[in-house]
Amino acid sequence: MAQAQTSAGLNDLTKEAYREKTTKINPEAQSLLESYSKIAPDKVAQHFLPCTMGHMPYTKLLKTSPTGGFLDAGYAGCCFAQEFRFLANQSLPHSRLSGCDLERVFIDLGYRLFLDEGTQGAKFVTGNLAVPDESTYQSGPLTQEQSGKMMAVFASSLFHMWDFENQLLVAKRMVAMCEDRPGVMITGRQLGSYLGGHYPMTGMRKDGDKFKHYWHNEQTIRGFWHEIGEATGTQGTVEAATYMAEKMEQTKNAPFAEPNTCMIWWCATRI
Ligand SMILES: C[S@@+](CC[C@H](N)C(=O)[O-])C[C@H]1O[C@@H](n2cnc3c(N)ncnc32)[C@H](O)[C@@H]1O
Repeated sequence: MAQAQTSAGLNDLTKEAYREKTTKINPEAQSLLESYSKIAPDKVAQHFLPCTMGHMPYTKLLKTSPTGGFLDAGYAGCCFAQEFRFLANQSLPHSRLSGCDLERVFIDLGYRLFLDEGTQGAKFVTGNLAVPDESTYQSGPLTQEQSGKMMAVFASSLFHMWDFENQLLVAKRMVAMCEDRPGVMITGRQLGSYLGGHYPMTGMRKDGDKFKHYWHNEQTIRGFWHEIGEATGTQGTVEAATYMAEKMEQTKNAPFAEPNTCMIWWCATRI
């Protein structure tokens, strides 16, 4: 995918590479789209996006905590909330599932992908997790709808967009969305760097070279959650691991990539 960045600019070679990628469907995605969305096996490729469903630790937690809610933060976007639908398909009541995103259009596209508008009772909230003004955030829909209700929050491909300060801001808000009790889990995965630190956002947003995002390694993500604990008066354990994923191949030549780019998975659990 090195030759073109937007669908408008796709050349034939890139289209071919995309077609090849999108016809390789992992078995979990195939199974979810067949059993949850009732899509015929031969039509699944038209709905397919890459999935890593059910690999995160909250699945077990939610099954053993019958009242706790689950929030998929940064709910839609690239993969249109596949984790969320995975949990619904695992018989977790829809009423316990919430999604939030900056853009309503992604939420609507998620419905179109999974063909489940009108068949699920989950709550979707549109709002800005990183709005700088605290009183705007406090009076906004994310606080009003979700404060103190979640047993688990999942933030996938979300935190890597922000610098360290903004990550702190959002993580503190996620703590406030959670129930005030041990076992609560905030977890995520995102682009990281074996050499944790701030890097320019070249090519990731307009004027990206003027902005920085913070990419974590295993030590810095632990330090990050230590700071959150200090700021929120909470204590917890942090599991984290860096890894290379197949999708890294697709981004290794991206303008924002650097030699130490990796993926990082992390899970902060309250004790
Ligand atoms: C890269 S996508 C990740 C989508 C999905 N979680 C996944 O892993 O495939 C990032 C998502 O976060 C949303 N987002 C970006 N900034 C946000 C903000 N400030 N508040 C809430 N959502 C935000 C975007 O609209 C987008 O849907």
